[in-house]
Amino acid sequence: MSKILMFNWKMNPNSYNDTEKLLSIYKKTSRKNIVIFPPSVFLQQAKESCDQIGIQNISSYDSGAYTSQISAKMAASCGAKYCIIAHSECRETFRDSNTSSTIIKKIEEAYKNNLIPVLCIGYTSSNIDQSDDNVIIEQLKPVLDNFTNKQIYIAYEPIWAIGSGKPAGIDDIENAVKIIKQINNDRNKVSVLYGGSVKSDNIEELSKINGIEGFLIGGASLIEKELTSLLQN
Ligand code: PGA
Repeated sequence: MSKILMFNWKMNPNSYNDTEKLLSIYKKTSRKNIVIFPPSVFLQQAKESCDQIGIQNISSYDSGAYTSQISAKMAASCGAKYCIIAHSECRETFRDSNTSSTIIKKIEEAYKNNLIPVLCIGYTSSNIDQSDDNVIIEQLKPVLDNFTNKQIYIAYEPIWAIGSGKPAGIDDIENAVKIIKQINNDRNKVSVLYGGSVKSDNIEELSKINGIEGFLIGGASLIEKELTSLLQN
């Protein structure tokens, strides 16, 4: 079975028409096992072209006076099947969401609405030499301790690899897989993804890493040449 490719468009593209153009590239592929995470305003548009779509973030609340927030229920009603939780860019931008209690509530909301969570973890320093395993243990353990027998994707994305053009090395990714599996201890159905500068020229090498079941891809998901080649994988 081919690896799952999850495409995180972040805050792109800029318009309905540009979204149509980007979707037309995805529409050409017969590759299965892909998920697109467009900006929320384009969810329904993306759903018309792609079987599997997801939302880039959800509220920890189910409804109410939370201006600008989008609930898991709303995303599910637009056809989303997945949701990214605690992407490092969200951890940085919305500091109030950067706690395990909020993250746990978001995951609970996801399950209540039949969304599969894609929880992002990773070293938080932009300096590769300051990578400390305790950072990922602290991000993951308090969250995973709350769940049993659930399906969850854990995307390992060190900050220094995101958008930098330099993916993490094989040893580093293998170490993260080992830590994630140890913390989970067979309690949940965990699939580990890698994210951070995944491109057409490194995906083959990264695919050989034991325990990696797919990729969360940002920048390359917007570039026609990159995308076309990634979709051939
Ligand atoms: P990148 O982003 O592929 O542009 O490094 C990955 C991500 O942030 O999910």
